[in-house]
Amino acid sequence: MKTTLYYFTGTGNSLKVAKDISRNLGDSECVSIPKALEQNEKIEAPEVVGIVCPKYYFGLPEIVLQFIDKVNLDKTKYIFTVVTFAKGLPGGALSQMKKALALKSKRLSSGFYVRMVDNFILWTWDVTSEKKHGALHKNAEIKAGKIAEIVAERGNKIDKSLMEHIGPVLFNYKGFLKEVNAGDTDFYSTEKCNSCGLCAKVCSVKNIKMADGKPEWLGLTCQRCLACLHLCPQKCVQFGEQTKKRSRYVNPFIKISELINGA
Ligand SMILES: Cc1cc2nc3c(=O)[nH]c(=O)nc-3n(C[C@H](O)[C@H](O)[C@H](O)COP(=O)(O)O)c2cc1C
Repeated sequence: MKTTLYYFTGTGNSLKVAKDISRNLGDSECVSIPKALEQNEKIEAPEVVGIVCPKYYFGLPEIVLQFIDKVNLDKTKYIFTVVTFAKGLPGGALSQMKKALALKSKRLSSGFYVRMVDNFILWTWDVTSEKKHGALHKNAEIKAGKIAEIVAERGNKIDKSLMEHIGPVLFNYKGFLKEVNAGDTDFYSTEKCNSCGLCAKVCSVKNIKMADGKPEWLGLTCQRCLACLHLCPQKCVQFGEQTKKRSRYVNPFIKISELINGA
C-alpha cells in the first residue's frame, strides 16, 4: 500500500530522513508540504501518511499546522510523524501533532524524534561542531531504518520526552507562531551579495523576491527555516548581528536542486 511522506525542510535534514524512510519502506513517495499547499486543489492523502519536519522552538513549523488543517485525511488509516531536532532533549512537537490531528478526528499512530545537526544559529550557539556530523548522520540513518520497520508493521509507538509539555513554554513557542510569518525583518544581505538569487530559489514558501539584484524578504510567509541564510554561497545572508560569525550548514546528502524542486 502506497505511503506518502509529506515533508518540510530548511537545510535538508528532514528531507534526508524522509528519503531514508521512503527507501526502506518501498512503494512510497516524498512530497514537499509547501509545494502541496501551493496547488489550490484539495490535498487528498492516501491510506498511509507520514509527516516529517524539523522542530522549531519545541514545536511544529507553522506551515505543518497549515498543512494538517488543509489536507483531506478521510481515506487515511495510519499516520506517523518524524520530527528532527538538534540540541537538548526531544519534546513538544509530538504532543502538538497529536492535538492537531485530534482536531480532525484522526489519531497519531506513531511518532519519532530523530537527532540531527543543529542549524539554529539565531541565539547564542553555533552549528553543531563538524566533528559530530558523521555520527549524527549515521545514527539518524539507523533510526530511519527502525522507523520504517515499525511503519511497515503499522506499529503504535510514540517516542517519550520529559520536555514534551514544558519545552514549548520555556522556548515561547506561542510567541514564535504569532510572529513568524512577518517576523523576517532581521534578515538582510551584506555588500558581498553577488545577486545570484539562490536565497529566493531555496525559499520554499516564496517569501523572498529579488529587487535590483538584491533579496527582499516580503514579510508574508516566512517560516524561519534559515534555508536562505545557510545556502547563500557568499555567506552574505544574515539575521541581525549574531549570525555574522557563525558557520553555515546544509545536509550533505541532499542536493540543492531537491531543496528547490522537491525530492
Ligand atoms: C527556527 C528554528 C528553531 C529551532 N528550534 C529548535 C528547538 O527548539 N529544539 C531543537 O532541538 N532544535 C531546534 N532547531 C534545530 C532544527 O530542528 C534541526 O537542526 C533540524 O534538523 C533542521 O531540519 P531541516 O534541515 O530539515 O530544516 C531549530 C531550528 C530552527 C531553524
